[in-house]
Amino acid sequence: RKSVVRITTGSQALDELLGGGIETLCITEAFGEFRSGKTQLAHTLCVSTQLPIHMHGGNGKVAYIDTEGTFRPERIVPIAERFGMDANAVLDNIIYARAYTYEHQYNLLLGLAAKMAEEPFRLLIVDSVIALFRVDFSGRGELAERQQKLAQMLSRLTKIAEEFNVAVYITNQVIADPGGGMFITDPKKPAGGHVLAHAATIRLMLRKGKGEQRVCKIFDAPNLPEGEHVFQVTSGGIMD
Ligand code: GTP
Ligand code: MG
Repeated sequence: RKSVVRITTGSQALDELLGGGIETLCITEAFGEFRSGKTQLAHTLCVSTQLPIHMHGGNGKVAYIDTEGTFRPERIVPIAERFGMDANAVLDNIIYARAYTYEHQYNLLLGLAAKMAEEPFRLLIVDSVIALFRVDFSGRGELAERQQKLAQMLSRLTKIAEEFNVAVYITNQVIADPGGGMFITDPKKPAGGHVLAHAATIRLMLRKGKGEQRVCKIFDAPNLPEGEHVFQVTSGGIMD
């Protein structure tokens, strides 16, 4: 049996919320409005995953699938310095690919599995997991097919997490809630419907606070701690 590894987010508050950090063997989803910190958390995890285990890292490589073109290698440099790591070595251990269609995104995952069989990876990022689906299946009658393809993609991600003991971090968008009265205080909900809700083990709901502050809540998990946890987005990445 593979044993779970927890990877620090860079923020103690967030780590506490997660029971030590994001976990291997499952999918962690972050959703929230633009600039809420989803991509910055991805950048921080690119570095912290490479820390040794005793420093709350995963001692492994990172695969990054970028569907929005928002990965910034130059952002990795100050984050690596903050953790006392060599930035070039850290960058060398991030395998990066830009995806342009949902099919391309899926095929990249197939290729990655072959790589992961050979080298020790500990994190797979897909930022954003759903954006290309929303573009490629934008027609009104295409929702059922979209959800079916999305389910296929997510099941592939779960398989990778379990087979290679990798943490999967995916980002998601928020959409307006069409009604029903469940979201009166915040009329937004994560995209992807029940397919995504079912695949993600932990769902982090992020929102902007004052200045560089961001607020995180666990979404829709009755067994996990309630309450809001505050972190900051800084040039050194996510921190308290
Ligand atoms: P979308 O992808 O647009 O939905 O947003 P997101 O949730 O991915 O937001 P992202 O993680 O890109 O967060 C952007 C926030 O990080 C912005 O408020 C930026 O100002 C902040 N940010 C990015 N780089 C830096 C930096 O080097 N220093 C600091 N202090 N903040 C930064
Ligand atoms: Mg982003």
